[in-house]
Amino acid sequence: MKLHYTEEMLTELREKIRPYLKAKRYQHTLAVEKEAARLGEIYLPDDVNRLRAAALLHDITKKLDLSEHLQICSEFDIIVGRFPEKEMKLFHSKTAPAVIERDFEGYFDEEILSGVRWHTTGRDSMTVFECIVYLADYIEETRTFGDCIELRNYFYSMLESENADKDEVLRLTMVRSFDMTIKNLIEEDSLIDMDTVSARNYFVLGNNPVLE
Ligand SMILES: [Fe+2]
Repeated sequence: MKLHYTEEMLTELREKIRPYLKAKRYQHTLAVEKEAARLGEIYLPDDVNRLRAAALLHDITKKLDLSEHLQICSEFDIIVGRFPEKEMKLFHSKTAPAVIERDFEGYFDEEILSGVRWHTTGRDSMTVFECIVYLADYIEETRTFGDCIELRNYFYSMLESENADKDEVLRLTMVRSFDMTIKNLIEEDSLIDMDTVSARNYFVLGNNPVLE
């Protein structure tokens, strides 16, 4: 049975996450909540508050350092890749679900956990819920990075065009986002997570996000 997240619960959660985040990250998180609500109204109107909860929790381990991430990984049997120091950006989405389980009673909800788990890399056969958390993080209104602005405009201009097919708009936006991410990773000489490649290929092949 799905839990229902009330407005009061979200208000309380907004305060509870505050010590987990640096000030700038907290502002970003609130903006992701807002964007997730906006996207939720379009794609998953019955799940808007659950999406908002996932957005509030998505970055709660972002300020931890490598040794703290590794500590959580060993405590919770989370598999660490071969080059942990090169994968710092990926750790927070692996360790956040463990911290939700440990510290946030009532939010150990399968969809919230998978939304948080896959918000950085994406994965093969992503759900609509996972896509919304991922995309809200990418295009929320305080993002000033060029690609974020471009993706936000790409998504909303297609969506607002006449006869827009909202599922196709989401699929194309996911493809574009992974293309941007992969190009940036190549330019930075960074590793590309295989889940990102799988996610990109899934959407390039014409598949829509899975509706659970
Ligand atoms: Fe984020």
